[in-house]
Amino acid sequence: MSSALMSNYGNPELEFERGQGCYLFTSEGERYLDLTMGIAVNCLGHCHPHLVAALQEQSTKIWHSSNLFRIPQTERLAKRLVEHTFADRVFFSNSGTEAVEAGFKMMRRYHYSRGDTERVRIIALSQSFHGRTLAPIAASANPLHTEGFLTGDPGFDQVPFGDIHALRGAITEKTAGIILEPIQGEGGIRLTPFDYLLQVRELCDEMGILLMFDEVQSGVGRSGFLYAYQASGIAPDLLASAKGLGGGFPIGACLVSERVSAPMVAGTHGSTFGGNPLATAVGNAVLDVITAPGFLRGAMETAAYLRAGLAALITRFPAVLEEQTGMGYMIGLKCVVSNADLLQALKERHLLAVKAGSNSIRLLPPLNMTRDEIDEALIALNGACEALSNKSA
Ligand SMILES: Cc1ncc(COP(=O)(O)O)c(C=O)c1O
Repeated sequence: MSSALMSNYGNPELEFERGQGCYLFTSEGERYLDLTMGIAVNCLGHCHPHLVAALQEQSTKIWHSSNLFRIPQTERLAKRLVEHTFADRVFFSNSGTEAVEAGFKMMRRYHYSRGDTERVRIIALSQSFHGRTLAPIAASANPLHTEGFLTGDPGFDQVPFGDIHALRGAITEKTAGIILEPIQGEGGIRLTPFDYLLQVRELCDEMGILLMFDEVQSGVGRSGFLYAYQASGIAPDLLASAKGLGGGFPIGACLVSERVSAPMVAGTHGSTFGGNPLATAVGNAVLDVITAPGFLRGAMETAAYLRAGLAALITRFPAVLEEQTGMGYMIGLKCVVSNADLLQALKERHLLAVKAGSNSIRLLPPLNMTRDEIDEALIALNGACEALSNKSA
């Protein structure tokens, strides 16, 4: 069927009418086990009753009033994020890329406010992904994303992932800060080593520059911590969040320390929809569940069960799978066969997963997945690996 949509998303063939928990259903009633979860967005599965209730309740009160006025649930969500993290202040956006953009602006403004007007450049790591607006594509400098879009020197530098000497060498008197993902997502699920995070933190403090973590994908419980940086104990100055924060409703947030926030006086930044009451009502409902005592511990016990099953598959099918990466429910499977072939074989078995860099696939389950659902996923994975293994033999 021809489409009036722009073709930048290719031409997806599947179409779903509804979702419930771990599952998506077509209008013909066909059921798929969804481990894409809207690309790490629906952290509590589809149509979680507590989130549905929060959205329904808010939708009868007020949809939008703008930041001309105080919005109680937006203030509450900011306060809760501050209470649970390093941050002192929060700026709300509508997406991950806007949260990152806001952070870039704040890094520059911080130095500007101290009279350091030349400190404007930002350093990012190889194979990073920070979004699709102009500054984030310039930061990651992936030619697939930048070609035809950038002119001149947009003010970003890149260094190899995990190489502290290269990072030190790249810092100049023009550097404002560094951005990195504690767990790289799109680039192929890859943990940034804790000792490197510590070295980067120390380097930033030594050089008087800022450290920003992009937790758009790794945040909101997926790592087993509310934010993945909390596993390392290394706190940033700024943190971009989005995706899981709205459990499926669009929202982004840039969390910052007081010193970064201070220069962002009235008029320096803004968003019409950022902090919208519908979005923050759902965001609060997400936090109700994720920060409930024992929830993340329970989720990680179930994640360990899935990870053990995946480890067994890697041993059983060395011609198909090479390695399991990531942390908690942010799972990468590095493939020996082409990742596209594995995704196709899974789709034929009604299991949906997502591609990532380094010939990997990503499994991004909801944090409340059950062991029975995991068993179902492992059966589909086993079938797909068996079929591909026989093909390659
Ligand atoms: C680490 C990271 N940063 C930023 C983004 C951009 O988020 P959005 O697509 O909501 O703009 C993504 C999206 O995949 C991401 O994974």
